[in-house]
Amino acid sequence: MRLSERSGSIAQSEIRSMTRACNAVGGINMAQGVCDLEIPKEVIDGAKRAMDEGINTYTPTEGLPRLRQAITDKMKRFYDVAIESNQVLVSDGATGAFYTACMALLNPLDEVILFEPYYGYHRSTLLSIGAVPTYVRLEAPQWNLDITALEAAVTSKTRAIVICNPANPSGKVFTREELERIGTFAESHDLIVFANEMYEHFLYDGAVHVTALSVPSLKNRCVVLSGFSKVFSITGWRLGYAIAPANVIEAMAQLNDLIYVCAPAPLQIGAAEGLEKLGDGYYAELSRIHQHKRDIFCDALRDARLNPSVPNGAYYVMTDVSNVSGNDDFEKAMEILERTGIASVPGRAFYHDDSGKNMVRFCYSKPLDVLEEAAEKIRKLR
Ligand SMILES: Cc1ncc(COP(=O)(O)O)c(C=O)c1O
Repeated sequence: MRLSERSGSIAQSEIRSMTRACNAVGGINMAQGVCDLEIPKEVIDGAKRAMDEGINTYTPTEGLPRLRQAITDKMKRFYDVAIESNQVLVSDGATGAFYTACMALLNPLDEVILFEPYYGYHRSTLLSIGAVPTYVRLEAPQWNLDITALEAAVTSKTRAIVICNPANPSGKVFTREELERIGTFAESHDLIVFANEMYEHFLYDGAVHVTALSVPSLKNRCVVLSGFSKVFSITGWRLGYAIAPANVIEAMAQLNDLIYVCAPAPLQIGAAEGLEKLGDGYYAELSRIHQHKRDIFCDALRDARLNPSVPNGAYYVMTDVSNVSGNDDFEKAMEILERTGIASVPGRAFYHDDSGKNMVRFCYSKPLDVLEEAAEKIRKLR
């Protein structure tokens, strides 16, 4: 059968092909971004109890009122941001929330600015609905915001900009000042700002998460996307959410209903209980554990004479691999896999052109013993 043009435009082959190559040699897969921590008991127990109590049928497409309220309370608790629960849509992961947001707000041929290196799903989602991604490069190792480059990327068709904060893959954490500058920029061109805040609880060296909703110039023009996959280690539960003005949530809800009907009912209760019952210590520990892992792996990369851009947040590290033999990022990633048994993602997954040819990304959210073994192995590249 002939496939649609759309299906050809969204192939995401790098992570999958590295995973296959990694499995073939019995290596350590640092390509895939799966959080390895235990699921908090509160979350599991809440979901189990909900199943036993019969919460197994469709929920309102916007999500169960209890979970929408828990998300509303969470924004007050962590960021002192006041929202109403009708500004919250629970969806099938942050992935589903972003897709419904794009469907609700963008038309085909609308241009959307992505910071490069980008998260591949952002680009693919835009392509899948016929929007046109355009790119503004952030340069390693600091990934500093360049407003002049942003201004240069705007055309009469530009409708939106996407921020990933903290960023996958770069680990950049946007400061309040940077977000304010983006807010001024977005206001002056009347742009929507999609703020993916999936890694809001993964912060290092005292970095602070500033949600787009707390920046006055962004407050009424942003769609915040986040979820529970990473924070509660439940990537397979498919639970995330969007926060946006109530009229946007209403439009998104129609699309959410069409595409997913609703998020899994009992699992929504599990996430709500996690938000309601877990104390601040739980979240602080997430950052502490991952900062430790970041340090173990970045030290090893430096010992291997690779050049990591040390991340301030999320749990990936973009690494310069100019010193590794190979003609491009794919050959270099394969060389690393062959010599050390460690799989990474070739840089091309994060750039629209060949600018990633001397980059790979490692995910260091691995069990500590596996990470220590990986660190020893990567040192063999020296
Ligand atoms: C930036 C970012 N957003 C979203 C996701 C996926 O979120 P979800 O599982 O909630 O769809 C990931 C997973 O790797 C991610 O890195």
